[in-house]
Amino acid sequence: MIGNDIVDLALARKESDWQRKGFLDKIFTKKEQLQIVTAQNPETMVWNLWSRKEAVYKIYNRETGIRAFIPLELECFYESGTLGTILIKGKTYFTQTKIENDFIYTIACAEKEYFKQIKNIDIDTKINKRNGIPFIIDSNSKIEKPVSISHHGRFWKGIIIE
Ligand SMILES: CC(C)(COP(=O)(O)OP(=O)(O)OC[C@H]1O[C@@H](n2cnc3c(N)ncnc32)[C@H](O)[C@@H]1OP(=O)(O)O)[C@@H](O)C(=O)NCCC(=O)NCCS
Repeated sequence: MIGNDIVDLALARKESDWQRKGFLDKIFTKKEQLQIVTAQNPETMVWNLWSRKEAVYKIYNRETGIRAFIPLELECFYESGTLGTILIKGKTYFTQTKIENDFIYTIACAEKEYFKQIKNIDIDTKINKRNGIPFIIDSNSKIEKPVSISHHGRFWKGIIIE
């Protein structure tokens, strides 16, 4: 299973003041907050960890059917700016993050091997949804294939496992 999440940094800056009282406590564990406040660029770290949590949540929700706002239960283990894992309810998911000037983008996988099988899908792809969760129907096999999509501000990303 796969998940993705993109953050348009210009829009995030407009929409959310991560420095406002209570924001960090609501979303990040004490350990994650330490990672943020000691980072060279705390704002980038906020959206980096945020996009990891959102990307993993999309897998978690698909696998369990549980829909909830659970940022503190999605615990980030930070390996580097681009790599990490997230633990939720005893299960580990893997994340790869890309940091650019304008956006931060995370792809999450339930198994590490899936990363090399991930392909981008085009914005014009016909996407179906069941309970809000997106999938496509393969034109050759007619089989349903899960996809993950994310859009924020100027950016749209869609992925599939080939
Ligand atoms: C559902 C949720 C994950 C969507 O994320 P978002 O950043 O608001 O929006 P994105 O553009 O990245 O993703 C939206 C797309 O994800 C897909 N999607 C929606 N719900 C989904 C789910 N539960 N699982 C997988 N994909 C989902 C849809 O295709 C949707 O596209 P659409 O808007 O065209 O219908 C988010 O709103 C949410 O509920 N988060 C709460 C869970 C949480 O605790 N997160 C941690 C916060 S740091």
